[in-house]
Amino acid sequence: MNDTRKLAKFLAGLGYGSRKEMAIAIRDGRVTGEGDDLRIDGEPLDPPAGMILMLNKPAGFTCSHADQGRLVYELMPGRFQKRDPKLSTIGRLDADTTGLLLFTDDGTLLHRLISPRSSIEKTYEARLARPLEGHEAALFASGTLVLRGEDKPCLPARLEVTGERTASLTLTEGRYHQVRRMFAAAGNHVEALHRSRFGPLRLGALPEGQWRLLDPAESLALRR
Ligand code: URA
Repeated sequence: MNDTRKLAKFLAGLGYGSRKEMAIAIRDGRVTGEGDDLRIDGEPLDPPAGMILMLNKPAGFTCSHADQGRLVYELMPGRFQKRDPKLSTIGRLDADTTGLLLFTDDGTLLHRLISPRSSIEKTYEARLARPLEGHEAALFASGTLVLRGEDKPCLPARLEVTGERTASLTLTEGRYHQVRRMFAAAGNHVEALHRSRFGPLRLGALPEGQWRLLDPAESLALRR
C-alpha cells in the first residue's frame, strides 16, 4: 500500500470519512503535518485506537448503539461512531441514571472491565422516595440479598448514608438495574441515581452532557 492509501485508511478508521473521501482530502491538501502532529483542516487528529473517554451522562439518553430516542453518542462528534475499531460504552447506565460513563475502542480492556469476574468498584449516589430505616447497610453488606427473579445473592455492597433519603452505594457487580432493585428489595424506591465513581476514576468538575479524554495517568490507573 502506498503512503496516501495507508494514511487514507488510518483517517477512515478514525471516522473522518470513507477511504475514498480521505484520499481526496489528502490530495486536496486538507491533511497537513507529520508524525504525531497530523492535522485535518488544521485541527489535531483524534487519538488512534486505544482511546478512552468519560462522559457526564445526562438523564434521558440511552447507552445502546441503536435504540430509539436519544443516544449517548449524540453528545460527542458524529465521527466517533464511525471509528474502526468501534467505540462502545464500558457497561451501561439506565436512561434515567446520570453521571460517569466510560467509552473505549479497546476491546480487550472493555471485556476485562465488564466481565463478571471484574471486581472494579462503582459508586452510585441515590435519592430515595422514603427515609432510610437503618437496616439497609447490613442487608446490602450481607452477601445474602437475592433480587427478585434471581437466585444468586448479590455480592456484599457498601452503603454510606448521607441524609435521611440519600445514600451512596458502592458495588463490584453490574447486574441489570442493580441499585434500583437493591433498594426495592429493601422496601424503598430510587427517585434519582447518579454514578460518581468507576474504579479509580471520578467525574470531578466535568459538566453534565460534556465528555473528555482520560489523561495518561487516568488511563494507566484504569488499565492496572
Ligand atoms: N444500577 C441501576 O439501577 N441503574 C444503573 O444505571 C446503574 C446501576
